[in-house]
Amino acid sequence: MTTSSIAQRPEAQSLALNGGSPVSSAMIQMIAVNLSEQDIDSAVTVLRSGMLAQGKNVAEFETRFAAMSDARLAVACANGTCALQLAYGALIEPGDEVLCPAWTYIATASMIVAVGATPVWIDADPHTYNINVDDAASKITPKTTAIACTHLYGNPVDIDAVEALAIKQGLSIIYDAAQAHLATYNRRGIGTYGDAVTYSFYPTKNMTTCEGGMVTTNDDEIEIKLRKLRSHGESDKYLHDSIGFNYRMSDVEGAVGRSQLESLAERTHRRRQNATTLDRALAQIDGLHAPTITNGAESAYHLYAVRIDPDAFVTPEDKPIRDKFVEALRAEGVATAVHYPMSLTRQPVFNTPGVEHQPVSDRLSQTLFCIPVHDALTEHQIALVSEALAKVAVALRA
Ligand SMILES: Cc1ncc(COP(=O)(O)O)c(C=O)c1O
Repeated sequence: MTTSSIAQRPEAQSLALNGGSPVSSAMIQMIAVNLSEQDIDSAVTVLRSGMLAQGKNVAEFETRFAAMSDARLAVACANGTCALQLAYGALIEPGDEVLCPAWTYIATASMIVAVGATPVWIDADPHTYNINVDDAASKITPKTTAIACTHLYGNPVDIDAVEALAIKQGLSIIYDAAQAHLATYNRRGIGTYGDAVTYSFYPTKNMTTCEGGMVTTNDDEIEIKLRKLRSHGESDKYLHDSIGFNYRMSDVEGAVGRSQLESLAERTHRRRQNATTLDRALAQIDGLHAPTITNGAESAYHLYAVRIDPDAFVTPEDKPIRDKFVEALRAEGVATAVHYPMSLTRQPVFNTPGVEHQPVSDRLSQTLFCIPVHDALTEHQIALVSEALAKVAVALRA
């Protein structure tokens, strides 16, 4: 077994590469990068073939991924950020206003800006942490053409409500499912819904291709636009009738993706089982709340976010109570992650004069922390996480 410390992002502070065996570090890690020998062999086979650029492995990965997500069509690309830019590029015009959650990863919003449109900040639902659809409805103007929604932490948004609003107002819908591979809503894969759904295969995600992304859609015209945007607006070899990019996925990544799909359902099942055990443990701890899953949805549990009721604990003057939990859990051998330390309207790039801050999102930035839920955890480790939570909650109680 190999361990790696991939530290490009805060959520990746403690990573272990897990080839199927339990992770042996004393610390219970937040994330295990699960690459099997088969995944590695499939990459090596393509590397040895010399056929490295986007080819048959990517094409097969697209077909299988679409089928597993209950979508008709899929377009692979270089990463989840590119996937968003492609989807927005296919559906949004410069100058448009796009309803966008303030409580999400920055790429959901920054790629709206990248296509020349303006994100209009929508607050989070206080229970599911996803976009608050009533708030979105109240912020529609004549310039609004689309709604972007993140299935945050793997939990699908209230798709019925989003679709009702979009139909009434004539909006396109783009779902950011970077954290939600194989999540379902009304018993259908999330690829069934919306105009485009985007995914990430970054190493910390539920499945990885190293770097990688995908857009699924059920619309042939959108698919054509996505393919052209992905590859220099090319409609035929060396025939370019629009501006595009090079956002292609390599065939090495495509082969890893294909192979990863073979174990994804089983690994997602284990995440769900781990979440059920954590739910039971949290139900016994006053002042801490398990995640609320959207009615009719099945989460992919990319992350398991615990919410603190600040009134139940002694709040330090110099930092949020959440930071005390993070420190105390670390001392108990449990790694945690903060998704996210600030809402997007507080990010320097968006915190411009006149920006409308979002109160629920701001509160979440002080009261949420994520605990390990990944598929490589043993039952014993899940029990240790539960015990540590109970112990720390007693120690910090008001
Ligand atoms: C919600 C969300 N959207 C988009 C992205 C961007 O994906 P990538 O890192 O593959 O560009 C991420 C990845 O962290 C994400 O969590």
